[in-house]
Amino acid sequence: MHIEYKTQKDLPCKELYQLFLAVGWAEEDKTTPEMIDNFNIGFINSTFVFSAWAGERLVGCVRVLSDLHFRSIIYDLAVLPEFQSMGIGKELVQKCINMCNGSEWLVQTDMAKGFYEKIGFRENEDYFLTMPCKWFG
Ligand SMILES: CC(C)(COP(=O)(O)OP(=O)(O)OC[C@H]1O[C@@H](n2cnc3c(N)ncnc32)[C@H](O)[C@@H]1OP(=O)(O)O)[C@@H](O)C(=O)NCCC(=O)NCCS
Repeated sequence: MHIEYKTQKDLPCKELYQLFLAVGWAEEDKTTPEMIDNFNIGFINSTFVFSAWAGERLVGCVRVLSDLHFRSIIYDLAVLPEFQSMGIGKELVQKCINMCNGSEWLVQTDMAKGFYEKIGFRENEDYFLTMPCKWFG
């Protein structure tokens, strides 16, 4: 199947929401129409974004916050379940890394730890302190 990769940041909100629903990051009964209308705000305000398309269908996405040299952090890497295990996730992350090769790369993940280790990420013993997000905890 031909997959096209795009760099636009203003991904369509409804399709992005459907993608988040499909991977379990959104819940229908907790999502208001206003939240859906603003679903791409984190993508628009990111340093760069890659998305994967099967024709007109959004099948994968990833966004990065980066200083484009030293430090970069990956957020919201998701591939629709029926398009997983086809190399799309790996291609999305590789495209990010190619944008600033040599940068430190960070990602917070639990379920996808094995995926990132296959790409070359290693667990880090540094201590990260956080303040939780008001919307997502
Ligand atoms: C994690 C995710 C993005 C991977 O996307 P994908 O398109 O299925 O991954 P790929 O097909 O590119 O897989 C690349 C390699 O990683 C392996 N892999 C994929 N998911 C894995 C996992 N959860 N654990 C271990 N290995 C995994 C694949 O088998 C493949 O191995 P290979 O190169 O030896 O064939 C996708 O499973 C997903 O959207 N998951 C739900 C959301 C999520 O957890 N996102 C990450 C949060 S940052």
